[in-house]
Amino acid sequence: MSEFTSAQEVNPLATDPRAARAGGSIFRAQCATCHGADAKGIETIEAPDLTLMFTRSESTDASVFQVIREGVPGSIMPPHAFPDTEVWMLVSYLRSVAIAGTSAQIDGDPARGTTLFNLNCLRCHRVDNRGGSLGPNLSTITNRRSQDALTNSIRNPSAEIARRYKPVTLVTADNGRIRGAVKSEDAFSIQIMDSDQVLRGFRKSSLQEVIHEDISLMPSFYESALSSDDINDILRFLQSAR
Ligand code: HEC
Ligand code: HEC
Repeated sequence: MSEFTSAQEVNPLATDPRAARAGGSIFRAQCATCHGADAKGIETIEAPDLTLMFTRSESTDASVFQVIREGVPGSIMPPHAFPDTEVWMLVSYLRSVAIAGTSAQIDGDPARGTTLFNLNCLRCHRVDNRGGSLGPNLSTITNRRSQDALTNSIRNPSAEIARRYKPVTLVTADNGRIRGAVKSEDAFSIQIMDSDQVLRGFRKSSLQEVIHEDISLMPSFYESALSSDDINDILRFLQSAR
């Protein structure tokens, strides 16, 4: 994992309305060839839709700054040596085109939602400083994603797996199998959080195999496990949790 070196965690231009416009100009000149003029991505290039990025709980202004600055190693996403101010302008622009979350109050029972959450979700997800960390922190997720999108994530988690939570199975020299989420990886090493939620690092030369998977570590919650009302209660709880 690359270290985030800038001391700045918050976009210093966040309240400047001109920043997003200036960032839009830089974007069209430098990024649109891959990400599209509207930032919605170009499928043939496999450059992602950047309007959906802030809907994921691990995307912050600081993490997006870092991706723009450092690029994504192992992909065609290049690093950019722009001055900090211009990178923040790009972050402002990407915020301005981001799909919004759930603003209306979700119709559900937060007390019942708490119980259902504790039973089904808490071991993997943190909310208000309690819970596990195999999955992302859900404390502010309803700010960033719509009720429908969240329901889809719960019904079918494998449809779109969050970056930094990609499932992997490692086969060790003695044929042991370790399943977990990839936290970082390069040609020689891989760091994962295993299913017991322990962070572990491996040299690839010590492993027989690294198997990247497309089935999420999160189980699918079908209608038989959680009804639509159950999900709305959980989402209402999450909405009230901050
Ligand atoms: C040559 C094509 C190319 C150019 C130019 C490019 N990108 Fe990317 N970008 C990509 C690809 C491909 C990815 C996906 C990398 C991956 O995760 O495998 C990506 C990923 C990203 C991500 C992370 C998205 C996520 O879901 O986390 C951000 C943010 C981003 N690009 C912003 C920019 C900005 C801003 C610019 C211009 C300054 C830019 N990119 C220029 C191809 C490009
Ligand atoms: C065994 C661990 C586990 C359990 C149990 C679990 N999750 Fe997850 N969850 C994950 C992981 C890992 C991810 C990230 C990978 C992905 O996107 O599929 C995730 C992703 C999510 C996301 C998408 C987050 C984002 O940033 O977009 C939501 C929403 C979510 N879980 C809600 C729930 C709810 C609600 C429950 C209980 C009904 C639950 N999860 C139970 C592990 C779990």
